[in-house]
Amino acid sequence: MAGRIPQEFLDQLLSRVDLVEVINTRVPLRRAGHDFMACCPFHAEKTPSFSVSPRKQFYHCFGCGAHGNAIGFLIAYERLEFLDAVEELARLAGLEIPKTGSGGGDASRALLEWLACADRFFRQQLREHPTRQHAVNYLRQRGLTGQIAGVFGIGYAPPGWDSLSRILRESGAQPEEIVNAGLASRDEQNRLRDRFRDRIIFPIRDRRGRIIAFGGRALDDVATPKYLNSPETSLFHKGSELYGLYEARTRIRRLQRLVVVEGYMDVVALAQHGISYAVATLGTATSAEHIERLFRVVNDLVFCFDGDRAGRTAGWRALETALPFLRDGRQISFLFLPDGEDPDSLVRREGQAVFEQRLEQATSLADYLFAELRTRVDPDTLAGRARLAELARPLLEKLPEGHFRDLMVARLRQEAQLINTRLRLPTPVSVRLSDNNAQLTRTPLRKAIALLLYRPELAQQVALDDPALQDSREPGVRLLANLLTILHAHPTLTIAALLERYRNTREGAILERLAQWRLETPEDEYQFEKEFADILNYLRRRADPAKQWLETLLQRRTPISREERKAFRNFDRFKKV
Ligand code: CTP
Ligand code: MN
Repeated sequence: MAGRIPQEFLDQLLSRVDLVEVINTRVPLRRAGHDFMACCPFHAEKTPSFSVSPRKQFYHCFGCGAHGNAIGFLIAYERLEFLDAVEELARLAGLEIPKTGSGGGDASRALLEWLACADRFFRQQLREHPTRQHAVNYLRQRGLTGQIAGVFGIGYAPPGWDSLSRILRESGAQPEEIVNAGLASRDEQNRLRDRFRDRIIFPIRDRRGRIIAFGGRALDDVATPKYLNSPETSLFHKGSELYGLYEARTRIRRLQRLVVVEGYMDVVALAQHGISYAVATLGTATSAEHIERLFRVVNDLVFCFDGDRAGRTAGWRALETALPFLRDGRQISFLFLPDGEDPDSLVRREGQAVFEQRLEQATSLADYLFAELRTRVDPDTLAGRARLAELARPLLEKLPEGHFRDLMVARLRQEAQLINTRLRLPTPVSVRLSDNNAQLTRTPLRKAIALLLYRPELAQQVALDDPALQDSREPGVRLLANLLTILHAHPTLTIAALLERYRNTREGAILERLAQWRLETPEDEYQFEKEFADILNYLRRRADPAKQWLETLLQRRTPISREERKAFRNFDRFKKV
C-alpha cells in the first residue's frame, strides 16, 4: 500500500462500521442501559467492566483502562497492524480503500504479479524440469518431505541463463519490470540474465502472504554464494521482513511464542519436526522493525544464536535492540546453541521434544544481561561492581517505564551490591500515555472538552473567533479550538473518527482519557448545553486582557508603579463602557 489513507476515508469508514457489531462477533456483548458490557478481553476478570458505547463508537475498560475505536480494537484484539485493521473494516463496510500518494500502486501491483508468476514457475520446475531430481535429492537429503516443501512453497530455479525471464516476457512482462522485481539483471549486451539459476528457491512472503522476494540456496556447498537473496526492491526490505512469519501465523491460530533463528533451512527444518513457530531474519541483524513486528504477534520471543563468538555478538546486539520494546507482559529469552550446531542440525538429531525443552530453558533477558556484564568486570571488587552499575545504567534506561524496569533496577542494586549508592534513573522523555491510574484533574477546560466529546453538536454553540478561545497561553485552549475547528468543518463526525485524527499524539492520549469521563449530569440536553455555556463564559472572563494583566501584576514581586496603577484604572473604565 503506497501513501497515506486519506482522512475523509477514515471518517467515512468509522461512521459506516458499527463498533458494537465489530466487537460482538469476537466478544459477546450484553446491553446495559445506553451501552454494552462484557468481561474485558484484555485482562482477566470475572465481573464485566468492559463497556462499549454505540454513541461514541468507543470502548473502554474500567478495570484495565484499555480503550479505543474500531481500528484500535482490531489492532489490540487481532493484533493487526494499522493498515490491516483498516483493510479488515473496509471489507466489512464494503468500502474500497482509495489508492493515494506516491502513485506506486500500479507499478507494485505489476511487480507482485510477476513475482507470483515466478513463484509458480519455480514450483513447477521442481516437479517437471529434466534436472529436477538433483534438487529433489538435495531436499530429501536435508530431511524435508514434500508436504513441508509444499507449506513453504519451496521451488527450483533451473540452470540456464534466462529460463524465467523468457517465460515472464512471454506472459507480457516488460524487461524493466523483471529487473525491478529483482528477478533478473542485464548483462553487458543488455540481455536479461536470471538472478536465480540452479538453486533451491524459498519464496519470501509479506504479512499478507504475498510473495515479495526469494531466497535461493546452492545445491552443493562448493557453489558460491551459498545463499542468494532478492535485492532490495520497492516491495522487499530485508531489514524488516521475517522469513516464515506468514506461514507460522496461518498454521497456528493463536500463536503464543515465536522462535527467531538465522536461516531459511532452520525455519523449514524446525517446521518439519513439528515446531511451526520459527522465523528467520534474512541474513541481517535483528532490527527494531523486526522486534516491533514480532511483538505485534506474540508476547514471548526466543532468540536462537550459534554458541560461537559471532553468535554471541549477534545475541547481544539483539538484546540492545529489543530493550525499548520490553513493555510489561512481554518477554524475551536467549538460546545459545552448542558449538557447531544450528537449529536445523540440532532438531534433526534431537527431535522436537528435546529442542522444545531447550527453548523452555532458554536464558531470560535479565539473566543474560547481567551474566554478560559480569564477564566484563571483576565483580569481586568494589570498583568492579561500580563499573557494573555504570555499564548497566544506559541499558536499563532504554527500558520503558513499568514493573519490568523496576525489577531490573532492583536486580542491578542487588548485583552491584550498592545498596547505599543512589542509582538515579531519569524518567524517559516519552510520557507514558496509557497509564489509566493517573487521573486527569477535572479543570473546567477539560470538562468542556469532555462535554464536547460526549455531545459533538455543542460545537455549533461556539464561533471559532469566540474570545474564550483566544487565551493561547493555555495549551488546553488550543486543543479545544482545534476540536471546534474540526467539528465546524465536519459537523457529523463521530467521536471515534475525531479521535482517529489524533492517533499516536499527546493530545490523542488526553482526549481518549477525557472521552472516558463519566459525566454525572443527567441525560438532559439542556443541562449539557448550559454547563458547556457556563464553562465558555468562565473562559471568556479568564481571557479578558485586563484580568490577565492584573494577574501578572499581582504575581510580580516588585511593587506596582504609579503609571501602572493609572493605566489599569483606565483599562477598567474602558471595559465598563
Ligand atoms: N545468508 C545469506 N547469504 C549468504 C549466507 C547466508 O543471505 N551468503 C543468510 C541466509 O538467510 C541463511 C542465513 O544467512 O539462511 C544463515 O546462513 P548460514 O548459517 O551460513 O547457513 P544455514 O542456514 O546453516 O544454511 P545451510 O544449513 O543450508 O548451510
Ligand atoms: Mn545450517
